[in-house]
Amino acid sequence: MSWLLKSSIGRKFIMALSGCCLVLFLLFHMCMNVVSIISIEAYEAICGFLGTNWYAVLATGGLALLFIVHILYALSLTLKNKKARGNDSYAMSSSLSSVTWTSKNMFVLGVVVLVFLLLHLYDFWFKMMFAELFNLHDIVVLPEEVGGHMAMLFGSPVKVALYFIGIVALWLHLTHGVWSMFQSTGLNGRTWYPRLKCIGNIVATIICLGFLIVPIFFLAKHFLCGAC
Ligand code: HEM
Repeated sequence: MSWLLKSSIGRKFIMALSGCCLVLFLLFHMCMNVVSIISIEAYEAICGFLGTNWYAVLATGGLALLFIVHILYALSLTLKNKKARGNDSYAMSSSLSSVTWTSKNMFVLGVVVLVFLLLHLYDFWFKMMFAELFNLHDIVVLPEEVGGHMAMLFGSPVKVALYFIGIVALWLHLTHGVWSMFQSTGLNGRTWYPRLKCIGNIVATIICLGFLIVPIFFLAKHFLCGAC
């Protein structure tokens, strides 16, 4: 078991596994959010169903653990790579033609996604789950109020622009993440690698388009029909 924690391939495997679970969460979260543009009542009902019970809190804890493991291992891999390359890091990375802009900036993209996530958790999770759990009556947004909350939030072009930047960074991070996951797990043969990469790119694009459409829909609604 210790190879999982100590060896480079073990670390990459944990990165890939935690990344895979996070992608499944994103797929679920995106599908749930798309419901909000079809029927806000249905979306509020889903938020109420997922609710603020101890199962939901447990699931949030598990999710947080996944994020933490993924981030800590990313940090450790990046530091190890830097150390291994030493002063030659620039020369080495620029000489490898297969190393794309996204792969060189995977860590930076991860940081942009993390900053976006903190902003997003403040916008929703803090005001919904956290505020309800700790009886913060002044700021709590109840499930039946989430439609109004989203309309207010995404009525601001600045907020929508911030979400746009965060989601584009997520797309770049995911499209490269899927590539490196296949490298780490050894699924990088000539036949399957291009196919899996293509599937990965399609999944990342569907996830990010699904996320993007929500704030854009609410912003368009705000400008086109005001309070209607
Ligand atoms: C842009 C469209 C998005 C909308 C409308 C949206 C909406 C929401 C809502 C309403 C919640 C609170 C759920 C609750 O506490 O009951 C939530 C939580 C959360 N969102 Fe999003 N989200 C979006 C994008 C994203 C993206 C792109 C990510 C990841 C990078 C993300 C990650 C999370 C996480 C980790 C939680 C906490 C989950 C939990 O409480 O267990 N969301 N989101």
